[in-house]
Amino acid sequence: MKTNVLYCGDNLEIMDKFIEPETIDLIYIDPPFFSGKTYEVIFGDTGEKRAFEDRWKGGEYHYINWLSARIAKMREMLKPTGSFYIHLDWHIVHYMKVELDRIFSSDNFLNEIIWHYRRWSGTAEHFLRMHDNILLYAKQAGKQKFNPLYTPYTPKSLARKQHYHTRIKGDEVYVTSVSPKGVKENDVWSIPIINSQAKERLGYPTQKPEKLLERIILASSNPGDIVADFFCGCGTALAVAQMLGRRWLGCDVSPTALKLVKQRLEKCGATNVEMVNVPKTTEEIKSMKPFEFQNYVIDLIQGTHTPKLVGDYGIDGYTLFHHDPVQVKQQEHVGRPDMQKFESAIRRERKSKGYFFALGFTKQAHDEVARAKMEDGLEIELVKVQDLVSAEQPPTFL
Ligand SMILES: C[S@@+](CC[C@H](N)C(=O)[O-])C[C@H]1O[C@@H](n2cnc3c(N)ncnc32)[C@H](O)[C@@H]1O
Repeated sequence: MKTNVLYCGDNLEIMDKFIEPETIDLIYIDPPFFSGKTYEVIFGDTGEKRAFEDRWKGGEYHYINWLSARIAKMREMLKPTGSFYIHLDWHIVHYMKVELDRIFSSDNFLNEIIWHYRRWSGTAEHFLRMHDNILLYAKQAGKQKFNPLYTPYTPKSLARKQHYHTRIKGDEVYVTSVSPKGVKENDVWSIPIINSQAKERLGYPTQKPEKLLERIILASSNPGDIVADFFCGCGTALAVAQMLGRRWLGCDVSPTALKLVKQRLEKCGATNVEMVNVPKTTEEIKSMKPFEFQNYVIDLIQGTHTPKLVGDYGIDGYTLFHHDPVQVKQQEHVGRPDMQKFESAIRRERKSKGYFFALGFTKQAHDEVARAKMEDGLEIELVKVQDLVSAEQPPTFL
């Protein structure tokens, strides 16, 4: 099994095409949480876009089916001694627990780990939500690799001998031997989220702390084992696997994320990191389904997907920070009429800047952009998608 590889694409297809069954020791996934934005990505790959409202109705079942199909495939990829961790939160964990019991069999459920953290929260209407849920399943309970983790005794507990375990038998009280390593770790983990000053922070919105992944990887794998993350984002699990001497493989639909992961892994000492399936040629980009193309471009620039019907407004997404309108067209000769429609859309959003991504623009389109800037103070940046894909550095459109 080839390792130290980053696969670009939908993990279901990637597993089908490239991953051999029963080869992986540990899988950790942190899929997109159940939210409006998630839908845009998920529904994109069905090639079907419906009104936002429609998608909310019964939407969670689409998400559950979408994710369950992928998890079932991941289970096949695990060795009989393998372990599977899924990172979720209150939005969907209750539905997914039921699904996972079905996929893995409830006999193979091992733990629900509560990752507790503190973060700023403004709400006063209910208790503050300050934990995520991580479910752990074994492929075959009893066969899984498991290295217990220990928290060292505190000096205070040592001083008071609180770490001594006692056993009462009849009238006798025995002091049983204590582990020199400390207290065995339980299933509630208090680990800070990545703060704005943290050294490990890469600016990826859903980045998880390395300390969290360290516990998972130390507990459920040994040096040399294969660790996989099929929703790898900016690659925290892979970076930690690399630092702990494990082999790894990662997958993400976003080539932008994978470029970042490659740099991160190289900083952690990985060599010969291979990128597989990254769309590069104009032909590959042109042959994508229209909605895949649109989602691909929005993901590529780390933007947000628009919750509105395609075409009703002329806006397909927004840039990450400034929320400037983005339009994407899988065409080579985008002309003046498209520019004029986009100008109206930008004005309707009360913005003064927008980005138009396409395979090519006519001279009239460029002329119209220059006119709009001069006469109306509207700024439109025309970007050829081929240039984005071949860029060395991940593009940033703030
Ligand atoms: C919550 S993030 C993962 C963050 C990661 N744990 C970290 O620490 O950086 C989820 C990732 O799943 C990716 N993704 C969504 N759908 C996918 C699919 N079908 N196949 C592969 N990756 C996918 C997204 O691009 C996103 O980067």
